This record gives sequence, structure tokens and C-alpha cells, in this order.
Amino acid sequence: MANLLAIKPLKMLLEEAKETGEHSLKRTLGPFQLTALGVGAVIGAGIFVLSGLGAHYAGPGLMLSFVLSGMGCAFAGLCYAEFAAMIPLAGSAYTYAYATLGEIFAWIIGWDLTLEYAMGASAVSSGWSNHFIELLAIFHIRMPLWLAYDHWTGLRAAENIVARQMAIASDPTLVPGSQAFLAKITEIMSVQSPVLLQKAHELLNAPQIFGAEIGWNMPAFIIALIITAILVVGIKESARFNSTIVVIKVAVVLFVIGLGFRYVNPSNWGSDWHSFAPFGLSGIGAGAAYIFFAYIGFDAVSTTAQEAKNPQRDLPIGIIASLLICTALYVLVAAVLTGMVPWREVNIEAPIARAFLDRGLVGASHIITLGALAGLTSVMLVMLLGQTRVLYSMANDGLLPKKFFADIHPKWRTPWKNTILVGLLAAVVGSITPIDDIGKMVNIGTLLAFVIVCIAVMILRRTNPAQPRPFRTPWVPVVPILGILFNGFMMYKLGWINWARLFIWLAIGLVVYFTYGRHHSKVQALVAETKPRSPVSV
Ligand code: ALA
Repeated sequence: MANLLAIKPLKMLLEEAKETGEHSLKRTLGPFQLTALGVGAVIGAGIFVLSGLGAHYAGPGLMLSFVLSGMGCAFAGLCYAEFAAMIPLAGSAYTYAYATLGEIFAWIIGWDLTLEYAMGASAVSSGWSNHFIELLAIFHIRMPLWLAYDHWTGLRAAENIVARQMAIASDPTLVPGSQAFLAKITEIMSVQSPVLLQKAHELLNAPQIFGAEIGWNMPAFIIALIITAILVVGIKESARFNSTIVVIKVAVVLFVIGLGFRYVNPSNWGSDWHSFAPFGLSGIGAGAAYIFFAYIGFDAVSTTAQEAKNPQRDLPIGIIASLLICTALYVLVAAVLTGMVPWREVNIEAPIARAFLDRGLVGASHIITLGALAGLTSVMLVMLLGQTRVLYSMANDGLLPKKFFADIHPKWRTPWKNTILVGLLAAVVGSITPIDDIGKMVNIGTLLAFVIVCIAVMILRRTNPAQPRPFRTPWVPVVPILGILFNGFMMYKLGWINWARLFIWLAIGLVVYFTYGRHHSKVQALVAETKPRSPVSV
């Protein structure tokens, strides 16, 4: 059992960080680019898409959900920053765990991070597609539903269309969007659901394979492939592209806040606690666990440590600055959204753009759609970048085949093979799976990584107090313990289905580790060579 807990010596890690030459990545990123990378990763589908369902969980209390979720991230972020500055290597939480908790935990985290990064990119590509479809609608272009959505989302969209048609057919005097219209739709959905379902299938008109209808989200698939191509060509170009998009999307979010506040009706926020938080603290907690997705990505800054010019100083700046900026923006956007639209009527596919459209602010809605498209593009970029860098680190450690996952392209200097594999995977998953399902799975995986990083910071303070720490997490152990409690609470709120998915995913990972990683690990070889009977100390 001891060698499963083999620890990667910090000395070895730091030497790797210094490594230069043709097999290393280029150091091109400064503090502005790192913060931009963080904001680029963070503002995306969480605020532009998932905030809609979040409002249905928490009501106007969604504002507090963002605060709660943001606090969990801040505590974990402070722990990340200590590690990111001390161990400035590609690989993020995976690398930190290797230096502290031991190989098996490092493997579990590395595997788990796939849920965060690659699946995160899939969820975002699906949110991107929702906005792309809104964009096409401006030009009166409609894609076949089975090519615009995964099967389940396509069927839901078809049901909505048919229900609206049936409502109007039953009473042509009904005004779309009115209370009576919404009541009629609810009635049709519950009373006539078999008829509705049959008509929805007819409208979907999807081709079949072995009797099963196909749903293929083509826009999601294509955008994921385009981002992959950009990443294969190189990090510098990617970072520049990202910085431009980040400016655009922050401008759009500020536009939403600035214009939206003029259309807020404060009575929508409720007049007492019950109307502000219709499902109480439990609803706010559920909302927090769901919109946690909106914060995912700030930690991706740390995965680019090998590409930062001055990682010791700039990584903590990048992580903490991006988190602070985003928290402030999210709370304000949540206030606008729930102030403009009664929470029960908040749209789920493109809630912010629709809130403006429903107010007759057509031009503003189009601007938001374009901003969301840009925003989501940069999120995918950072997510996929993070994923490829984690796999690169794992392969360098021998836990995955090095020839494939750590092979650097001679000209572009990127881990091109693993980028192509990850990009393809993300593209396929994003085109066949509903965004809500992927989002929750991504959340639980990321929250687990956060909890482990909080634990690891406390362990390393004890096992290696003398190691220079350019950035120290304040008030240890209070901050890491709060990180564990807040993030653990959100995990709990995600429910047993997502716990089950997480365990299945981790079980698959353990099979891979015991059949491959364990036998090829560099650290295991070192343990065997130097001190065959005792674990390597830091
Ligand atoms: N935080 C990222 C988003 O909301 C993952 O899209």
C-alpha cells in the first residue's frame, strides 16, 4: 500500500519547472494575460445559460446563491494560489496532490479534473450552440431540430413548439407570453402529454439508427473542433485571441448590468424573505450548487504555470483577481435577471438574452447573444487548454503513455496529439448530451478537486513547513476548513445521482491506473531505486 502513496519530491517538481529546451512549453504569459485567462475561463455558460435554471431553484435568492458559491471558490482559490505559486508547474491540483497526498490521490484528482475541463468544454459548447441558434433566428434561419440539439433537448424544444401551437389552436385569442397562455401550455403539457409527445416526435423528424432517434448538436460539435485547431497551433496565438474576446464579453456583461437595471421592477425581488427565497435556504443552496459552474475555470490559470513568465508572483494575482471580478459581475447580473423577469418566467436556454427580448429590447438582445457567443468561445478555449496540460503532466510522470500525451509538436510547441484527442471527445460529448446533465457532473467533479486542494494545503504546511511559499493562504486552517465545508455542502446539494456518476467515473479511472499508470510511474521507479522500503519524503 505504501507505494500507492508515493509522493513526488518537491525538488523534482521544481527542477521540472526550470526545464527549458525543445521539450518544454513556451513562457509567454504575464499577469494581465493570466487574469484575462481566468476571466476568460469563468464568464460563460454559467451566467449566460445556467443562471436561468438557477433562478428556478433559488428565486431572486439567486443573488445569494452566487455569493455562497463565490465564497466556496474564494476559500479554495486562496488554497490554489499557495500551491500555484509554490509549485509553478502545469497540472494544477493534480500536481499539488502528487507533492502532498501521494500518487493514488494525484491520479484520482487528475482523472477527476477531466470532468471539470473536458466535460466543462462540452457543456459550454452546448450553451454556445443555444446562442448560435438565437443568432440564426435573427436571420430567420432555422436548423432541423435534430441537428441543432442533442436528442433530449431537441425533443423538449419540439414539445415546447407543439404546445404553443396547440395552445393557439385551442384559443386563437390567447396572447403569447400572457398568464392565460402560460396556464394553457401547462395544462396541455400535463393533460395531453401523450398526444404532445407524438406530435413532438413528428416535428423532430429525426433519422433513426436501430430504431433510436438521433440528435446531433452540430453547432456544438463544430465550434469544439475549431477551438481545438486554434489550440493545436499554439498558446501565444490562443492567449491573444482570448484577451480580445474577454474584453468583449466583460463589456457585454457590463452592458447587461447598466441597461438591465433601468428595466428592473423591484417587486420581482419580493417583499419579504419568503418571496425573495421561495424555497428557503435549501433552494439557495441548490442554486449555489448548480450555478457553481459559472465559477469553474479560475483554477485553470494555475494549469498554465509552465507558460507564465513569472509564475511565483503572477499566478496568485491571476487566480484571485479573476475570481473577484467575476463574483461582483455575477451578483449584479443575477439582480438584473430576477429583477427584470418574475423568477418563474425566466427562460432556461438563453435567459439573459431572452429577458431583454421579452422587454422589446431587440437590439440589446442581439448584442447579448453575440457577447455570449464570444464569451463561451473563450471559456471553451481555456477549458480545453487546461485539460491538455493536465494530461501532459500526467504523461510526463509516466501515468499515461508519454509518446502520445506529452508529445510536443516540433514547430507549434503544443501537446498536439492529446489536444486533438481531447477536442474530439469534448466535441462528441457536447453534441449528444444535455447541458444540465453535463453541468452537474462537471460541478461535482470540480468541487471534489477543490475539497482535496483545501485538505492538501493543510497537510503540506505540516509536512513541509520550511518550503518557501511566495504566496501563503491566510488564516490556515480556518480558510481551508471553510473551503471544505462550503464546497462539501455544494457537493451534498447535487444529489445522489451525481454522486453515483462521480463514483463510476472514478472507478473507471482506478482501473486505468492499476492496469497502466502504476507500472509506468516515474515516481514509483524512483522509490524502488532509492529507498525500496520507505516512501520518498518531500
Ligand atoms: N465558468 C464557466 C462557464 O460558466 C465554465 O461557462
